[in-house]
Amino acid sequence: MKLWTGRLGKETARAADDFNASIAVDSRLARADIAGSLAHAEMLTRQGVLTAADGEAIREGLEGILAGLESGALAVDMGAEDVHTFVEAELTRRIGEAGKRLHTGRSRNDQVATDLRLYLREQCGEICKLLGDFIDVLHRQGGANAGAILPGYTHLQRAQPVLFAQHMLAYEEMFARDIGRIRDAQRRMNVCPLGSGALAGTGYPIDRAFTAQALGFDGFTVSTLDGVSDRDFCMELAAALSIVMVHLSRLSEELILWCSWEFKFIELDDAYTTGSSIMPQKKNPDLAELIRGKSGRVFGDLMGLLAMMKGLPLAYNKDMQEDKEAIFDAFDTVRACLEAAIPMAETMKILPGNMRAAAAGGFINATDCADYLVGKGLPFREAYGVVGALVAACLADGSTLETLPLERYREASALFDDDIYAYIALEACAARRRK
Ligand code: ARG
Repeated sequence: MKLWTGRLGKETARAADDFNASIAVDSRLARADIAGSLAHAEMLTRQGVLTAADGEAIREGLEGILAGLESGALAVDMGAEDVHTFVEAELTRRIGEAGKRLHTGRSRNDQVATDLRLYLREQCGEICKLLGDFIDVLHRQGGANAGAILPGYTHLQRAQPVLFAQHMLAYEEMFARDIGRIRDAQRRMNVCPLGSGALAGTGYPIDRAFTAQALGFDGFTVSTLDGVSDRDFCMELAAALSIVMVHLSRLSEELILWCSWEFKFIELDDAYTTGSSIMPQKKNPDLAELIRGKSGRVFGDLMGLLAMMKGLPLAYNKDMQEDKEAIFDAFDTVRACLEAAIPMAETMKILPGNMRAAAAGGFINATDCADYLVGKGLPFREAYGVVGALVAACLADGSTLETLPLERYREASALFDDDIYAYIALEACAARRRK
C-alpha cells in the first residue's frame, strides 16, 4: 500500500520504490512511531477530531501491533516504504476504516522528526550509562594501582613522573565531559515537533502541549517550518559522539603502545586479545586497534550529516531521510566500542615494576632538581642551566641524577646538599605535584 498514490497517473517503477524506501534503516523506529501515534490519536480524540470509538479502536490496534512486534508474532514488512507506512498499513489491516483516520492533522514530516527524537533520547541514556560504567572501571584501575609511577610524556618523550592514577583521571575527566555534552544536546532536543504538519502546521484544533507532555517532552517546537526540517540534534549528537571516539581512540593508542614490548607497562587479558595466523609468539591488541579505527566512521557520520544539511532550503527535503543511517551508525559504533573497551580495561594488568623502571631512566626528575635550587634562592633560569649541564654530564658517563656523586653536584653549584637525593626521588616528585 502506498500513502500517496492519489495524484500520480502511474505506478512508480520498482527501481524507484527500492531507491526511495527507508524501511531497512528506519524499522528500528517502530516503537517510537507507535508511541507517537498513540499520543496523537489520544489528543485527536480529546479534541473531538476523532470519535471516541475510532480513538479506542486506534489505541487497541496500535497496542496490538506493539505487542506483536515485541513478542515476535509480527514482523516488520520490509516491502513497506518506511516504518510510518508500515505501521499505518498494519493498523488499517487490523481495524479497517478507523486506521485511515490516524493521519489526520499530521504529516510524515513531523512524525519522523518526533520519532527520531524519541528514539535518540533513549540512545543517549544508554550511551551515558556505558560512559559512566567506563569511568568507574578507569577509576578502579587507578585506585587498585595507587602507588604505580610511570613517566609522563610530552612529545612522546619522557617528561616528568606521574602516577598511573593521574593518567587514568585524565581519561575519566574526558569521558565525564562527554556525558555532559550528550546530556546537553539531549536537553535541547527534547521538544516535540508533532503538530508542525508537513511544514505549516494544521487547521485542526490540535493540542500540542498535550502530545508533547504525553511523550515526555519538555515542550513543543514553535516554528513549524523549523520543526520539520531541524536536524541540529543529529549533528550535535554526532559531534558529541565523535569527541567520545577521539577520547576512546587516544586511550586505545596509549594501551596499544603500553602493551608493546617497547613499553610493557600493561598486559591485556588473553580474553581480549588475539593471536596471529603465522607468528606463534604474537598477542595483538586488536580490540584497541579496532576502536581506534572505528573513530573514523563516526567522524564520517558527522561529516555526512553536515554536508547533507548544508544546502537545504526550508522545509523538509527528502535528502533528510539520509540522517538516520548516519546517526544510527554513530550510536551503534560508539556503543559497540564502549562495550569492548569496558571489559578490556577492566581486565588489563598493570605492570608497576616496568613503569617504575622506565620512570627511572630519562631524567624525568630534572625539573625537580632545578626546583630544588630555586628553593635555595637561585633564579629558575639559572637553575635550569645548572641542571641541563648536569644531565649532559650524566649522559656522557652513563650515570643518572640519582647516582651522581654529591661532589659532582657541588662542582656544579654549592647550593646542593645531600638532601638532593631525597628531593628528586620519583615518589617525592610525584607526591609534590599531587594537589
Ligand atoms: N522516510 C522519510 C524520512 O525518513 C519520512 C518522511 C517522508 N516524508 C515525505 N514527505 N516524503 O525522512
